[in-house]
Amino acid sequence: MGIEFRNVGKTYPDGTTAVRDFSLDVPSRSTAVLLGSSGCGKTTLLRMVNRMVDPTEGAVLVDGEDVAQAAPVGLRRRIGYVMQSAGLLPHRRVIDNVATVPRLNGADRREARSRAQEMLEIVGLDASLGRRYPDQLSGGQQQRVGVARALAGDPHILLMDEPFGAVDPLVRRELQTEIMRIRTELEKTVVFVTHDVEEALTLGDQVVVLREGGEVAQTGTPRELVEEPADAFVARFLGIGTGERSLSAHRRATGGWAIEDPNGRPLGVVEAGALSSGATSAPGTVPPAHEAAPPGSNQPGHGRSPGQRRPSGDEPGA
Ligand SMILES: Nc1ncnc2c1ncn2[C@@H]1O[C@H](COP(=O)(O)OP(=O)(O)OP(=O)(O)O)[C@@H](O)[C@H]1O
Ligand SMILES: [Mg+2]
Repeated sequence: MGIEFRNVGKTYPDGTTAVRDFSLDVPSRSTAVLLGSSGCGKTTLLRMVNRMVDPTEGAVLVDGEDVAQAAPVGLRRRIGYVMQSAGLLPHRRVIDNVATVPRLNGADRREARSRAQEMLEIVGLDASLGRRYPDQLSGGQQQRVGVARALAGDPHILLMDEPFGAVDPLVRRELQTEIMRIRTELEKTVVFVTHDVEEALTLGDQVVVLREGGEVAQTGTPRELVEEPADAFVARFLGIGTGERSLSAHRRATGGWAIEDPNGRPLGVVEAGALSSGATSAPGTVPPAHEAAPPGSNQPGHGRSPGQRRPSGDEPGA
């Protein structure tokens, strides 16, 4: 199930234009990330897919069909939606929050609960937490429940609106890894909203950088964005040219290069020859983000270190 945004625009009744002439093709089982600072129209775009917002121009197609022709309720049951805040029902236990979706889809109580239990496991939550109420969970746990609930209806499409906004960088990294596993194992088409550059480059097969007013600054694979930012805005947003992403290499006595981040912290080692012998893929065959890690980063202990992350809250315009 692919998604296509075809020249969509949204002007709210009060005259605010949140999105202008936005087009994007999200192939089935791929992940598109909408990246941009606050107010640039990310949530508006996401909600066009499940008709929580109707575009004032253009159309959104799911699996080739204009969603304007689909009944909103049926559409929302087919599409998992993780809200910007976890959006859990406070008066219902965690397990019942998740079970709501299969119940709506016609499962009986028992079936729905067992499905919910399964989903809690998938997002890495202990079964015992199911009996608690949402306010008895940490922010990060609540966000996992939000993801479990979105998965519970087994939708082909997942819309995720800054699902990890409320968690610390380490847990965030863990959740990102889980999302990568889930979307590969369960074969989901994902539209993921964030204003975190690292998160976008980690998760996106393609990343759309938006500016104010929902205008596209650039669409590309993470590698394309980093290697060829379309303009100064994109470069600044990605932290290129500001020194933030400038790594340095030092030749090692034993061969190869040691790579350091701008603070001089070691990130890993590039083996001799790796840079010239096929470490970069041929033009036109840029792999998805999670495969496009720098050389050496697939070795234990040589992965992205926390030092490579941008400090949270440091995003331009956030
Ligand atoms: N119902 C509404 N009526 C009028 N204006 C709206 C409405 N909803 C959103 N907007 C405006 O549309 C613009 C885009 O809002 P949107 O929520 O899509 O931004 P966002 O990129 O998700 O921001 P954030 O990162 O803060 O969540 C903003 O200027 C916002 O104030
Ligand atoms: Mg938003």
